[in-house]
Amino acid sequence: MTTASSPIESVLVENRVFPAPAEFAAKARISGMEQYQALCAEAERDYEGFWARLARENVVWSKPFTEVLDSSNPPFFRWFADGELNASANCLDKHMGTAVEHKTAIIFEADGGEVTKVSYRELLDRVSQFANALKAQGVQKGDRVLIYMPMTIEGVVAMQACARLGATHSVVFGGFSAKAVQERIVDVGAVAVITSNYQMRGGKELPLKAIVDDALALGGCEGVRHVFVYERTATACAMVQGRDKTFGEILAGQSTDCAPVAVGAEHPLFILYTSGSTGKPKGVQHCTGGYVLWAKQTMEWTFDVRPEDVFWCTADIGWITGHTYVAYGPLAAGATQIVFEGVPTFPHAGRFWQMIERHGCSIFYTAPTAIRSLIKAADSDQAVHPSNWNLSSLRLLGSVGEPINPEAWMWYYKNVGGERCPIVDTFWQTENGGHVISPMPGATPLVPGSCTLPLPGIKAAIVDETGHELPDGAGGLLVISKPWPSMIRNIWGDPERFKKSYFPAELGGQIYLAGDGAVRSEDRGYFRITGRIDDVLNVSGHRMGTMEIESALVAKTDLVAEAAVVGRPDDLTGEAICAFVVLKRGRPSGEEARQIAKELRDWVAKEIGPIAKPKDIRFGDNLPKTRSGKIMRRLLRSIAKGEAITQDTSTLENPAILDQLAQAN
Ligand code: WTA
Repeated sequence: MTTASSPIESVLVENRVFPAPAEFAAKARISGMEQYQALCAEAERDYEGFWARLARENVVWSKPFTEVLDSSNPPFFRWFADGELNASANCLDKHMGTAVEHKTAIIFEADGGEVTKVSYRELLDRVSQFANALKAQGVQKGDRVLIYMPMTIEGVVAMQACARLGATHSVVFGGFSAKAVQERIVDVGAVAVITSNYQMRGGKELPLKAIVDDALALGGCEGVRHVFVYERTATACAMVQGRDKTFGEILAGQSTDCAPVAVGAEHPLFILYTSGSTGKPKGVQHCTGGYVLWAKQTMEWTFDVRPEDVFWCTADIGWITGHTYVAYGPLAAGATQIVFEGVPTFPHAGRFWQMIERHGCSIFYTAPTAIRSLIKAADSDQAVHPSNWNLSSLRLLGSVGEPINPEAWMWYYKNVGGERCPIVDTFWQTENGGHVISPMPGATPLVPGSCTLPLPGIKAAIVDETGHELPDGAGGLLVISKPWPSMIRNIWGDPERFKKSYFPAELGGQIYLAGDGAVRSEDRGYFRITGRIDDVLNVSGHRMGTMEIESALVAKTDLVAEAAVVGRPDDLTGEAICAFVVLKRGRPSGEEARQIAKELRDWVAKEIGPIAKPKDIRFGDNLPKTRSGKIMRRLLRSIAKGEAITQDTSTLENPAILDQLAQAN
């Protein structure tokens, strides 16, 4: 075990192994490595047959498919393309008349602690009624609807109602700014926006609808005919006559019966924006059939979910994890799940543990960044340590979104899981639709800091820059060498970027490039993710593009001449954003520098959202550049880390700049 200070570097050496607990394995769907290997072998023998079997077992088709994989136009792969289904019917209708109908679907806990429960039957009624309301307002199959909602039952209802009509939703996380909302509305071509008057977070009432108003006022949003407003709180918000309507207004008189609209398997279920290596976020387009299949199958394989489980994924519906493991997967699997509106530290940092006890949570899935911040809180205040609560209902823990450092893994394992619960460290991406590399909890021996092995059917590999597979122990590019059903279908409106980003010609044009580096261990062939290979940062489990933040900074044209953004390791947030800025007016110092740094942070919050605010801002007279004018980011990364520069700086045009930038402001 290492004690390196960075959460990313500290996963380098790890010898501890935790076999699947016998009691867990005895009941698990994948019970032991033989069973896991048998599934992998089945996929190896007959790849299409394997996926066809899963698609028949996991999905209710209104028209069965006869084709499995269509590779005629790579990399635009199609799965089950002549089949028809409805995603909402696969989450709700199929449970009617079964034991699940009157089971609790969602236990909602509000920021302030109030609890509301809805059964599958009630959820279906609410989704149907909301779908009827949308339909009456003119929303139809193929339309795009932007959702900007807090974590509420209504947020899930809004997504499911769109799916029911065959309308494609695009959910934007409530922490994004008006500008970010506007860009997404324009790019996706939304006809309607579903939002909430306010959201409650950490005891504060924060506006959402007002941000939508600002977004629409920025222009280019003429396609938006309606804004539907959920009245989360009693506080009024401004309403535009003719355009804005409350949920109460549109739901009045609507029936709770609404036939689900059958769509083709390839019909876009949703478009979710994520950061890439250029300034413009990518609209990741997912299909219906393959996505629903994997959402359900991974609930059963990775989480081994059973009828009596109380599942809790803490992710917001604004991220992919909240799509697959809040809005779709748990419902498709007929599970009872917790939906939480608030934040882990309000009213105290024991909130998660308190909620696990209160609701008898048995499967808990969260991000390393949350675990790290709760470790820190528990270290400084024993009263919020998990040991203060009865967590014996837990049987499985999960981690997602960023590498989990072995120290945090061990703490989670001991203090939350009572050394009894396996931890599934799930590696996947917005583009993957669901888990691609993860332990199977009843089978895979766990190694802290490793996401272990690919799921059956997922052909993950590590290759060099020419696409050749590398031996175990050698670090390289993580790829998935065969198409799989829940993979990204396109970048909305930008097929060229889709090809270039994910299926680069250098790798043959058909292999999915994840954008992460990885290495396989020589002893077990386990995967360990070493971090992004592109200009994407992972800050508190949120993906941020360095170019996106740079574009935001240089858009402050009255102040900023040039900016370069890099990441540096951070014990709490995984990575932290560090910006190097050249001002038009010359390099500021002292109080002036602090003032301007604050101004720039607020500006970035306005341009993108508070999650993109740089932690460090350093001012220079210039940036380190090669003689041909290229910014040398690797030097900036070293400076950001506080490392001595050991790289060759002979090609640098202006070496003196390094000392200047190394001085903290
Ligand atoms: C990182 C989140 C290490 C990775 C579901 C990936 C991880 C990016 C893990 C995707 C993990 C996600 N171990 N790194 N278990 N899970 N990542 O699109 O860099 O928000 O490329 O999807 O998060 O982030 P995204």
